[in-house]
Amino acid sequence: MTPRQIALVRQQFGLVARQADTFAAGFYDTLFTLDGTLRPMFPADLTAQRGKLVKVLAQVILSLHDLGAVIDEVRALAARHAGYGVTVTDYDTVGIALLTALGDHLGDRFDDESRAAWALCYGTLAEVMIDAGRSAPPVAA
Ligand code: HEM
Repeated sequence: MTPRQIALVRQQFGLVARQADTFAAGFYDTLFTLDGTLRPMFPADLTAQRGKLVKVLAQVILSLHDLGAVIDEVRALAARHAGYGVTVTDYDTVGIALLTALGDHLGDRFDDESRAAWALCYGTLAEVMIDAGRSAPPVAA
């Protein structure tokens, strides 16, 4: 990502984080509309989950200039996701849900440049997670 793209994603995440819970709720609504079969993978009550998602996104976005700083954490997160039964296709679905939720939340501010920057940001993270998930040891059921 270019420094300009990183700055854009950070600035827009700042706007989203002010209403983090509403944003995360919109994200999960969109995700389960896109693929209802994913809903049973998550707890019935998503309150805690919404907070965790936003917290990890914040950590990653703060480290975009140096992803090496959070790589161990991302790898561990990926290994847990392999254990949750998350597939490569699911990462695409989550990416679409994320971009849709951002567009809903940011309105006109989510222009083509923003969309491209966020797509690259999520794509980079998803790629690291998918790679790390593949090499993760199997998690006992
Ligand atoms: C970059 C992408 C993602 C991020 C940053 C992320 C973040 C998180 C975080 C922070 C948790 C809390 C538990 C933990 O730390 O292990 C979690 C749990 C979970 N995530 Fe993700 N996730 C991502 C992608 C996905 C995808 C693609 C799916 C597939 C549908 C998914 C499904 C789940 C499920 C099923 C749980 C466990 C819920 C539970 O039983 O508590 N995640 N995720």
